[in-house]
Amino acid sequence: MEDFVFKTMTSSFALLVLYIVIRFVNNIWWRPRSTEKLLRQQGIRGSSYKLFNGDISDMKNSALKASSKAISLNHQIVPRVIPFIHKMVQQHGNVSLCWFGRRPRLIVVDAELTRLVLTNKNGHFTKPPRNPLVKILTQGLSSLEGEAWTKRRRLVTSAFQLQKLKAMVPAFSSSCHNMIQRWEKLVEPNGSFELDVSSEFDVLAGDVIARTAFGSSYQEGKKIFELQKEQAILARAEVLGIFGKKAPDFEGINHLKIVSMILYEVLRLYPPITVINKYNWCETRVGNMSIPAGVEVCLPLLLLHYDGNYWEKPEEFNPVRFTEGVSKASKDHIAFYPFGWGPRICPGQNFAFLEAKMALATILQHFSFQLSPSYAHAPSNSITLKPQFGAPIVIRRI
Ligand code: HEM
Repeated sequence: MEDFVFKTMTSSFALLVLYIVIRFVNNIWWRPRSTEKLLRQQGIRGSSYKLFNGDISDMKNSALKASSKAISLNHQIVPRVIPFIHKMVQQHGNVSLCWFGRRPRLIVVDAELTRLVLTNKNGHFTKPPRNPLVKILTQGLSSLEGEAWTKRRRLVTSAFQLQKLKAMVPAFSSSCHNMIQRWEKLVEPNGSFELDVSSEFDVLAGDVIARTAFGSSYQEGKKIFELQKEQAILARAEVLGIFGKKAPDFEGINHLKIVSMILYEVLRLYPPITVINKYNWCETRVGNMSIPAGVEVCLPLLLLHYDGNYWEKPEEFNPVRFTEGVSKASKDHIAFYPFGWGPRICPGQNFAFLEAKMALATILQHFSFQLSPSYAHAPSNSITLKPQFGAPIVIRRI
């Protein structure tokens, strides 16, 4: 009897070990290799799977090398901001395969495929799975899926309705004016002062969020909204002044619209979120492609924003391209999606845009400014796009 029990236990243990070994080998080798085969059969090019690490070392080294020095003062920022993705697309084309560790990642730079992934209604494309610790720390809307996401999204969308945004205007205004007062204390009446607008805007964004969380009355909001319109009118001359001799031809364009056009062009060239990643948990057909389960799709929106197939002279700062609105600015309107697209589109976009418009209009009313000679052009990808060495500007009272 004892012998039987011993034999059963030993063989169960051996089976368990065998199961664990098979699973392990499947996870680290067979599955990645079979996914790679499926993708290559469809003509997709890219890097071959390397055990455990995939392309992670290459990704890290490219990022380190790119961030080691500043670049010339122009808008050719793609190789610095997303060096690995840029290299892959140059070498392998608009749909290319790379490896985030064991996870296959398809880099997609094509308007139609991007649209299909972002608007996919069957729920196959979700947020990439995260480290459990990160999951605990980020329980916001963007980390939810399914029913929980639907419910929370409804609440968040309603919190950002136009009427509610208008009610937030006094809070926006107070934050902007506090910033201006702070700056005014720094600048002598006829003098100038150098400050880092990057950290100033971080403070402003935090302050606005903190204030809006407490709300305000609609009437008060409406009044201040009207006042802000007037301020923007006054700001027109300053807006034109930014460009000096190189001023684009804004003739006949409404002043408020000019501020919006400038902000859209800044969002095109420097989108705060440069890449959107989606995880495909179930085999999905996208256009002519069949994407196997477990593949991550990487949509580098920065690359589409700079794509000569969709934009005239993409590396030129030219707000006039937005004269007829966002949808007509490029050859395909999904070539511009700083706030994402589809069901997961940013619910805070009107909030963010209004805040930026008010901040710019208020600053222009009080100060003129120019880039500091100490500025080093080094846009860098650290969760969001940031100036690596800050953004020093020299301000003067007007
Ligand atoms: C210029 C500023 C902003 C930009 C460029 C931006 C961009 C984006 C993008 C691209 C996404 C979609 C990500 C994806 O599909 O995975 C997103 C989602 C989101 N954004 Fe923004 N955003 C901005 C400001 C804001 C602000 C001010 C708020 C809130 C006050 C906000 C709240 C959210 C939320 C909650 C989501 C997740 C939506 C969901 O998963 O359903 N964003 N944002």
